[in-house]
Amino acid sequence: MARPRSTLDAGKIGTPAFVIEEKLLRHNLSVLKRVRDKTGATVLHALKAWATWPLFPIVKKYLSGTEVSSLNEARLGHEEFGPEVHMYAPAYKPEEFDAVLKNCSHIIFNSFGQFRQFKSNIKKSKKRISVGLRINPEVTAHERHHVWNPCAPDSRLGIRVSEFERELKRDPRALEGIDGLHFHIFFERDLSDLKQALPKIEKRFGRYFQEMKWINFGGGQRITDDGYDVEGLIKVINKFKKKYGVEVHLEPGAAIVWYAGTLVASVLDVIERKDVPYKVAILDISFEAHLTDFILSPVLELRIRDTGRKGQFRHAYKFGGSTCLAGDKINRIYTFKRPLKVGDKVIFEDAIQYTLVKTTMFNGVQHPSIILWKNGKSKTLRTFSYTDFKWRMG
Ligand SMILES: Cc1ncc(COP(=O)(O)O)c(C=O)c1O
Repeated sequence: MARPRSTLDAGKIGTPAFVIEEKLLRHNLSVLKRVRDKTGATVLHALKAWATWPLFPIVKKYLSGTEVSSLNEARLGHEEFGPEVHMYAPAYKPEEFDAVLKNCSHIIFNSFGQFRQFKSNIKKSKKRISVGLRINPEVTAHERHHVWNPCAPDSRLGIRVSEFERELKRDPRALEGIDGLHFHIFFERDLSDLKQALPKIEKRFGRYFQEMKWINFGGGQRITDDGYDVEGLIKVINKFKKKYGVEVHLEPGAAIVWYAGTLVASVLDVIERKDVPYKVAILDISFEAHLTDFILSPVLELRIRDTGRKGQFRHAYKFGGSTCLAGDKINRIYTFKRPLKVGDKVIFEDAIQYTLVKTTMFNGVQHPSIILWKNGKSKTLRTFSYTDFKWRMG
């Protein structure tokens, strides 16, 4: 399936705005649905990556349910997507747990201790809840950034095999009531990484897989990216299902909106400097407040439409945001064929995953509106006002 081209006309977009292109979103969703249809896997929308709920009616047509990590996400998944809500959290709070039960179909614990703590609540619940444990198979895929490596040596996420076996020695019935095991070990990885990791995971935990109803492979695979071996993934899942007699669950996040949206900004000012070979353009967005991960991690590349590398085109710029934080800027030179002027639009590519869900209104900066682009027209899903800012402050 070839990815459709973006048809966005930035001239029709009031800035700042996150713009989701429906055709591109549907493309990604069709790839994920193909995996679902060809394997029978449960494919969940990981809300942490993107949770623009007014578009859930579209997503629902392709995916099975939601993967959530907090009570708020669980409520949103339940209210706006449907009853299949799989929750994993590093720890659950006793005062919230009944509400978690109300909103979830599957609950995954990060430790045997938490499972024991809430076992009786689950037993007492009238609703049938499928319970799982998150394992940490200690498989590190040479992650480019420690902050996104769930198997880093000091990770708090998941039960290691030594801890798992110690618990079973202490209590041979420790897995009673457990339907599934969950691992999430990747950040933007390919099928080859999954293929390399699976035998290691099976070596450590495979003997428990047959006792389970389901195994959740987590997210972190670039399933909808160009060149990802989707047919290979289908084969891997089908082979795994047959070998262990289990259901497979997947919970992609970023892959749902990969290339499907942009952040559109306007140039507010252009500053010329004598001592550097570039100009500084100030935009009506904030890198700190709207594109946090690109400030957090030097390994992520922020792409801008119609620009070239340093030296490729004649007109060179660095970009800064409109808050007064010194670090609210991108430390990279982008080149343009034509000079930028005040009022020009700048389109940040592929800027939906893990951006909109992480924004702040730091410095009172204008929150970008959320826009759907469909058939050459923009539809505003949400705008943000002074009241949104004020209510968050007190
Ligand atoms: C438990 C879990 N599942 C799924 C995901 C989604 O991962 P991605 O957006 O990389 O596909 C994450 C991301 O952190 C996660 O922690």
